Amino acid sequence: MGDNGQWDADLFRREGHRMVDWIAEYLDGGAREMPVLAQVEPGEISGQLPTAMPEQAEDPEAVWQDFQNIILPGVTHWNHPGFMAYFGITGSGPGILGDLMSSALNVNGMLWRTCPSCTELELSVLDWLRDGMGLPGELFGFLCDTASVSSMLSLAAAREAADPEVRRLGMAGRADLKPFRVYASDQAHSSIAKACVTLGLGLDGFRGIAHDDDYRMDVAALETAIAEDRASGTRPLAVVATVGTTSTTSVDPVAAIGEICRREGLWFHVDAAYAGSAAICPEHQWIFDGAENVDSLVFNPHKWLFTSFDASALYTRHPEIFRRAFSLVPEYLTTPVTGQVVDLMDYGIQLGRRFRALKLWWVMRCFGAEGIRARLRHHINLAREFAGWIDAHQDFERMAPTPFSVICFRAVPPEVEDSEAVDEFNMELMERVNASGDIYLSHTRLDDGIALRVAIGNLGTSKADVQRCRDLLEKEMTCLFRR
Ligand SMILES: Cc1ncc(COP(=O)(O)O)c(C=O)c1O
Repeated sequence: MGDNGQWDADLFRREGHRMVDWIAEYLDGGAREMPVLAQVEPGEISGQLPTAMPEQAEDPEAVWQDFQNIILPGVTHWNHPGFMAYFGITGSGPGILGDLMSSALNVNGMLWRTCPSCTELELSVLDWLRDGMGLPGELFGFLCDTASVSSMLSLAAAREAADPEVRRLGMAGRADLKPFRVYASDQAHSSIAKACVTLGLGLDGFRGIAHDDDYRMDVAALETAIAEDRASGTRPLAVVATVGTTSTTSVDPVAAIGEICRREGLWFHVDAAYAGSAAICPEHQWIFDGAENVDSLVFNPHKWLFTSFDASALYTRHPEIFRRAFSLVPEYLTTPVTGQVVDLMDYGIQLGRRFRALKLWWVMRCFGAEGIRARLRHHINLAREFAGWIDAHQDFERMAPTPFSVICFRAVPPEVEDSEAVDEFNMELMERVNASGDIYLSHTRLDDGIALRVAIGNLGTSKADVQRCRDLLEKEMTCLFRR
C-alpha cells in the first residue's frame, strides 16, 4: 500500500497492464475461444466463493487466478461474435477505455459544480447525437442508466404535466383525480407496464393496444381505446410508441400516433431503445418521421452504439416539466450558481450520477459518424442475407419483417403439424444450438407461435459467424428430424 492508502503506482501499473493486455486479446478474438453461453449450473459459481470477505489483503495474483478460474466460466459472453440472443451488443475499445477513465476520475456529476465537464460533455454529446439522428433541434437530452428508467421518468413527467398536484398530494384517496391510463402496443417492452406500477398507476393503468400484421400498433384501435376510456371515466395520460419492438423490431407509426396525442392532449413518448441508433444512417431516419410531436424519447447507446453498458439517452422538449417533477434542493446541495446552470440531479430520481458521457464521447470521436454508420450497415446487411437464406429454405420460415438486424423465424418440420409440437421442436432446436457454445439465440412468442431470433449487433460478428449459425441450425434440425 502506498502512503496515500492506494496501491503503489508500480503495483497499479503491473496489474493494470495485465488487465489491459487481457482485454486487448479478449476483444481481438479471445472472446470467441470461450463458450458464448456460460456452461454452468445454478449455484456453481457461488459454491466456489468464500462465505466471508477476506480479513487480510490478498495477493492480486490470487485474485486474478480466481477471476480466470471461477468468475470467467460463469460469464455469458455478450462480447462474443456468436452472441445473437436478445439484442446483440458490444463494448468497444474506445468505450471500454472511456469507462476506465470515468472510473479513475470517480466523479459524481450530481451538480454542475461537482464536475462541470460531466454535465457539459453529457449535454454536448447528446446534442451531437440528436442532430446526427435527425431529431428535432429543440430536444434536450441527458443520460440515464437504462431505457426502463428513462421511460419511467418520462411517464412521471407526463403525470406532472397532467396534474401538478400529484407532486404535493400524491394520488391516493383523491376524489378529484380520475385513474390515469397509459397506452402502448401489446408489443411494447415490459418496462412501460412496470413504469405504471412504479408510478402508482397500477397495472390497470396500462392498456396494451392490438398490433397489425407487421406487429405495429393499430392506430384505429388506439383511438377506440382512448374514446372508450374517456367515456368510462378513466383519464388518458400518455401514449408510448415503440421504434424497434423487443420481439420483432417493428416500428410503430410515430407520425400518426403523435397526431392523436396532439389532438387528445396526451404526452407522447417514443421508446427507441434498440433501433434508435439506426437513425444515424440517413436511410433509416424515416423511423422518426413525426418526431416533431414527441414529448420525450429514449434510445440506448448501450444497445447498438458500441458503448459499454449502461448508457440510455433520454430526450425531451420539456426539461422544465422534468425539473418540476423531480427537483428538490436541500440547503447542502445549493451552490453559488444554482438556477443558472444545469444541475442534472434535477431531472430524475437519482442524486449521484456517473460520468457516462465519457465513454460515449470516446466512441463517437474514435469511430466517427461514418465509422458508426459503416458498422450498423454491416449488421443490417448480415441480417438481410440471413433473412434471404431463411426465405429460400424449405424447412424454415420467417415470422416477421426484418427492418434492422434481428430476424424472427422458425423451423417448419414437415412431419410435425400440431402447433404446440412445432413450438416444442423449435425450443429444442434452439437449446441444441445454444449447447454448442458457438452461437447463442433467444426466442419470443408471436401470433403464429414460438419464433427464434437471430440478433446481430456485435462488432466482431462476421459473415462466417452468421454462416456458422446457419450450419448449426441445419445440422441440429437434421438431428431432430432423424430422431
Ligand atoms: C424496446 C425496448 N425498450 C426498453 C428496453 C429495456 O432496456 P433497458 O435494459 O435499458 O431498461 C428494451 C430491452 O431490450 C427494449 O427492447
